[in-house]
Amino acid sequence: MGQREQYLDFAFSCAERAGNIIKKGFHSEKDVFFKSFANPVTQYDKASEALITGMIDKKYPRHSILTEEGLSRENDASIKWIIDPIDGTVNFTHRIPFVSVSIGLEIDKEIVLGVVYNPMLGEWFWAVKGQGAFFNRKMMHVSGVKDPGKSLIVTGFPYESAGRVEFLMKPLVKISNNFTGFRRLGSASIDMCYVARGSFEGFYEENLKPWDTAAGKVIVEEAGGTLSDYSGKSYDIYKKTIIADNGLIHGDILNLLEDIPTP
Ligand code: IPD
Ligand code: CA
Ligand code: CA
Repeated sequence: MGQREQYLDFAFSCAERAGNIIKKGFHSEKDVFFKSFANPVTQYDKASEALITGMIDKKYPRHSILTEEGLSRENDASIKWIIDPIDGTVNFTHRIPFVSVSIGLEIDKEIVLGVVYNPMLGEWFWAVKGQGAFFNRKMMHVSGVKDPGKSLIVTGFPYESAGRVEFLMKPLVKISNNFTGFRRLGSASIDMCYVARGSFEGFYEENLKPWDTAAGKVIVEEAGGTLSDYSGKSYDIYKKTIIADNGLIHGDILNLLEDIPTP
């Protein structure tokens, strides 16, 4: 097994065990603590994070970790695991099954592999740079739809949206007039994987964090999709805006977002 396949295998084990924590907590009473307005965290987010970072500590103690709930650490800066222990915590607290564990691996500033696992629906998505993208063991590809009228778009809204709600609503009006419609699932990593699988033609959102998009980025790329920021420049996970789509409606999504001031 090559080095990247070993890392992928390790990411699968982490995601599977973290997924068990999510399954256990999904229908249970939760301690919900609000980090900021409408931005919750539970003991299960923390347990999932502690489990995955503990597994990395044991297996790869020299690697760096970037994760949402406080257990990040800098070691060898050239190799970093980027983790969202539960992506879709609002869904999790309301028992809506769009929740995932998202694990990306950055080597020399490039995301080389990603695993997104939704334990509630039994959906596994993954990709290794240069080796294609997979959904439950089958290779997947973005959709071939190029007509906006036949395109379904997914988006999300940042927790800190004070003063920006008016801008966030504008593209929704345009989508309602010109596209099939829009969805808001509440888990950016799943949104991106559904673009990669061809369920959605496009996704956009502002103010996401690296752990929301690290795994999704390589999964969309390997599924043949296109990524950029809202100005059409190349996307990296530290940017404030993201568009991920099938490449055929990229110009249409850029047009939707052209009046939105940079966050
Ligand atoms: C959130 C989800 C959501 C997105 C938010 C994210 P969390 O992540 O990905 O879809 O709209 O901006 O913060 O807080 O559930 O990990
Ligand atoms: Ca997240
Ligand atoms: Ca999270």
